[in-house]
Amino acid sequence: MSKNNLLNVLNLAQEAAEKGTVEIATLNGTRITVKRGVFVPDNETLLFVSKCIEMIKSMNSEIETIADAGVGSGVIAVSLGKAFPAKKIYGYDISERALKTAKLNAKNNNTKNVVFYKNYRLGSWINRKTPRKIDLIVSNPPYVGDEELRSADFKRDYPDYKLQPKAGLLSLDRVGLRPYISILKSAKKFGVKYLLFRCNTENVNAITSALAREKIKIEVIKTESKALLLMRVTLIK
Ligand SMILES: C[S@@+](CC[C@H](N)C(=O)[O-])C[C@H]1O[C@@H](n2cnc3c(N)ncnc32)[C@H](O)[C@@H]1O
Repeated sequence: MSKNNLLNVLNLAQEAAEKGTVEIATLNGTRITVKRGVFVPDNETLLFVSKCIEMIKSMNSEIETIADAGVGSGVIAVSLGKAFPAKKIYGYDISERALKTAKLNAKNNNTKNVVFYKNYRLGSWINRKTPRKIDLIVSNPPYVGDEELRSADFKRDYPDYKLQPKAGLLSLDRVGLRPYISILKSAKKFGVKYLLFRCNTENVNAITSALAREKIKIEVIKTESKALLLMRVTLIK
């Protein structure tokens, strides 16, 4: 990513908090409005979107339906909806504000193939009302565990954390694992073939060893940024 494209997530989060809304352009030309109280995407999110588009193109014929677990502003779901107009995209969130914002972004980007559902429980990630099977889940779930949250490094490296919504950031466990496991468990019930996860580099060993107990294949795909690892998880029947 060139320097000109780099987002200053702290400035954006401050602007969203003060003015109530902030505009972001993704690397693929989708324009996203983020409302106060909704997770502000960072540079790694934008890179994740680009990598997802690349990988989905390479698995194109296998993927008809895609679910974004934890849709936030809709940055991933709407960008995918725009990149793949013939595919159906489902976006889920537990936050009413996030869903309102994501719907606005789908409308502004004219992505009629993206539909949204509200989740009501922290542990449930795929809404049961989803009409048909899901081929692929993409997700940037809440990734900050209690240990990381307490560390001085975290407070120094991610000064925007106080401005981000807690439900968007905190995994509510020690090491930032719980959402990944919950999403994977839901995926099994929906006949999902693949999952593309964003995760932090520090968490990858804990996540892969926890997931290793499941019947899955995990590929860790390193990307340009240290704070972004792309994991492709394949469910084995
Ligand atoms: C790290 S943010 C990512 C948002 C957006 N996908 C992005 O990359 O900018 C995680 C999102 O997951 C949502 N979330 C938390 N628990 C959830 C659940 N059980 N079901 C659906 N979404 C949930 C949060 O509200 C938040 O919007």
